[in-house]
Amino acid sequence: MLREQNIEALSFKTDTKSPLFKLGEKLFVDKDLSGNKNISCQTCHHPDFGSSDKLPLPIGEGGNGIGPGRTVDDGHIISRNSPHLINAGITGKTTMFWDGRVRFDPIEKVFTTPEKGINGKQPEHPELCKPLTSALSAQAMFPPLSNHEMRGEPGSNEIADAKSNIQAWEKLTKRIVVKLSYKTLLKKVFPDISLDEINFAHLAEAMGHFQANNFVATNTPFDQYLRGDKNALSPKAKKGAILFYSSGRCFMCHSGSNLTDGKFHNVAFPQVGPGKNTDRDDKGLYNITRKPEDLYKFKTPSLRNIATTAPFGHSGSLKTIRRVVEHYSHPMRSNHHYDGGFRNLPYELPVDWNNMNNRLRLIAPQIGRMGIPLSREDIDNLTSFLSVGLTQTSY
Ligand code: HEC
Ligand code: HEC
Repeated sequence: MLREQNIEALSFKTDTKSPLFKLGEKLFVDKDLSGNKNISCQTCHHPDFGSSDKLPLPIGEGGNGIGPGRTVDDGHIISRNSPHLINAGITGKTTMFWDGRVRFDPIEKVFTTPEKGINGKQPEHPELCKPLTSALSAQAMFPPLSNHEMRGEPGSNEIADAKSNIQAWEKLTKRIVVKLSYKTLLKKVFPDISLDEINFAHLAEAMGHFQANNFVATNTPFDQYLRGDKNALSPKAKKGAILFYSSGRCFMCHSGSNLTDGKFHNVAFPQVGPGKNTDRDDKGLYNITRKPEDLYKFKTPSLRNIATTAPFGHSGSLKTIRRVVEHYSHPMRSNHHYDGGFRNLPYELPVDWNNMNNRLRLIAPQIGRMGIPLSREDIDNLTSFLSVGLTQTSY
């Protein structure tokens, strides 16, 4: 069955030694990439929390602390869950963000992004496209531009007050290039250009390379099983795997070796938090394409090391893997009787009841409004496959 679907163990030779990796690692934790110098990429994508933050929704610049203990203070609650970064760079992922607003076509070498300067076949700023080699690198251009995530409120710093994205990137690059601690490293990574020729895309490329090589999980029990160790999965997890690839229908979207089709579907997870749209709603892919058939669609996440990355879904509404599996078995109940079960969150988490029926009406045909028929035992087995079978203890 797995062979028919071309499912193979993942393998990847990581580079954690090159100057490019070291530069990316340094930038990933550098708060100077945020306007008010109070938050880094790592705040929301922390190695201790499965490369996410253990919160349903992250708290942006102005907040304090990390992980579940982070407090809001002068910060903002971001409308989408901070996704994990595991295997994001090693499997040729070409779309980034829950709604795919950053894309890379590796054949045509064309980027699609929210900044018109780095878009299409003849971008206005080719110098900002040239250093980027992947969707992951292109993505790293954008968190520092988001007021609530990293940039800060207008009037609070020179990055927030920059007149354009291009200017904000120039100012951020300058902040880094003038630092003594970066000079030698930058010269090593980019020996052929002078320090004034370094732009934000060079820095983004380094962050992309770091993430691709740092957040890697290729030795889960499932991978060991695929490599021939038939005892790597417990009998329960094995039953779960069989369900995943048959009547459980999970494989229809979580397909291929990285357990994602790289496409967008509406699975009608409950919606919590401020929402990306008005009225606490989040219309997902529709916000980018404006096509009615894309309403409420989000990117299928890959599922390796999923046990370390709770809570789940684009708004972090589902607290545990079991709750996700239960949702698929009964999406109406999961929405109508939603209770997140979160305790001691640093903020209130309002639920969007208003648009719930719309989401359910448009749920993907692979699931249907009645859900995927799963018995108690099936739910147990699937939960075991996902939480134990797909998760490696160290990575
Ligand atoms: C305030 C928290 C926060 C900070 C800081 C932050 N991120 Fe994120 N990150 C998020 C959220 C939330 C999303 C999803 C947003 C969406 O899809 O609309 C995301 C998405 C991503 C993705 C896309 C993953 C995927 O599979 O689609 C990558 C990669 C990423 N961030 C890397 C970074 C890097 C690199 C930085 C620093 C330059 C950074 N993040 C800073 C919260 C944060
Ligand atoms: C129609 C396609 C589709 C099917 C079928 C499907 N999924 Fe999903 N899955 C998705 C999408 C899309 C998301 C993200 C939804 C969101 O965030 O709103 C998701 C999210 C998840 C998540 C949360 C991951 C995270 O990082 O937040 C888990 C776990 C999961 N699915 C497991 C399963 C299991 C188990 C099955 C089978 C019982 C299944 N899926 C069936 C498309 C699908």
